[in-house]
Amino acid sequence: MSIYSRILGTGSYLPPQTVTNEELAARLARDGIETSDAWIVERTGIRQRHFAAAGVGSVDLGEQAARRALESAGLSPQDVDMIVVATSTPDMIFPSDASLIQARLGCAGGAAFDVQAVCAGFIYALSVADQFVRSRMARNALVIGAEVFSQILDFSDRSTCVLFGDGAGAVVLGPSDQPGVLASALHADGRQSGILRTPGRVSGGKVSGRPFLEMDGQAVFKQAVHVLENVAREVLDKAGRASASVDWMVPHQANIRIMLHTAKKLGIGPERVVQTVALHGNTSAASIPLALDSAVRGGQIRRGQTLLLEAVGGGLTWGAALVEY
Ligand code: UT7
Repeated sequence: MSIYSRILGTGSYLPPQTVTNEELAARLARDGIETSDAWIVERTGIRQRHFAAAGVGSVDLGEQAARRALESAGLSPQDVDMIVVATSTPDMIFPSDASLIQARLGCAGGAAFDVQAVCAGFIYALSVADQFVRSRMARNALVIGAEVFSQILDFSDRSTCVLFGDGAGAVVLGPSDQPGVLASALHADGRQSGILRTPGRVSGGKVSGRPFLEMDGQAVFKQAVHVLENVAREVLDKAGRASASVDWMVPHQANIRIMLHTAKKLGIGPERVVQTVALHGNTSAASIPLALDSAVRGGQIRRGQTLLLEAVGGGLTWGAALVEY
């Protein structure tokens, strides 16, 4: 009998420190950099973000999100035989965040690895875990998105440093004879790697190249609206569904304009789009599971509903998943 993978539980964690646009603008002004709450809200929809304290990393955030997801699934760490972490800001070059989180949870033995697809990372990780669960290579998989982008922001670059925040979200995927992940699609175009990147690397004991996020915002914006609509239609087609059957779109939370524009193209009204960008900013691979968990816990998303997840990020990478929750 064929099986599906289903979301058994969700969890998320945000570091306690919030930084409002006004607070960030005041901080930048001390270095002679001008920005404003009005600009940030109008161009992105972001009103505040969370920043992790010094010394707090993506493993710390991811562990908390994972524990909450397990609790909501009614499972213990010992039930987990696979951990996939989507992150571009891991604690170490190696071992992976997934291995480090596995050790924290005390569930050694199963597979554990990271997926690096930047802001599309959670869709990639979910899709990988879905294949493992459906093929019975794994039973219960923890899929985590965890990021501390505050650590790679250049606070002298106002065009990027106002956009990102820190956080983590997680889901537990397990086997079911009822539909769960209905379809997913992943894509990349490496020719566009230059429009969004953090080019620095460690070599000979030193960082060589700039270890800060760089983005051509307009180029990414243009690509985003194009590829997100296409990949959303692709997963709907694969699943044989119309966009009218989508109860909630749970998009990557980069920019409210991109999210609502894509939804509109698909015929999905703003009231059916989960929107957390105002409170979280862009948390890269963490943004979809954070948005999902907040809508589940807020009572918006309910069991049996159809969810459309989609994201685009550095690489260029993009993807979507259609999920029956
Ligand atoms: O998560 C991965 C995917 N990433 C994305 O989806 C991001 C996609 N891109 C975007 O969301 C938008 O391009 C941004 C929000 C990054 C920028 O919005 P925009 O409407 O494309 O603005 P822009 O880059 O065209 O800049 C407009 C103006 C410029 O000034 P001039 O040249 O018109 O005089 C910028 O210098 O706004 C200026 N500007 C700012 N002003 C105040 C740029 N950053 C700021 C700022 N505060 N923080």
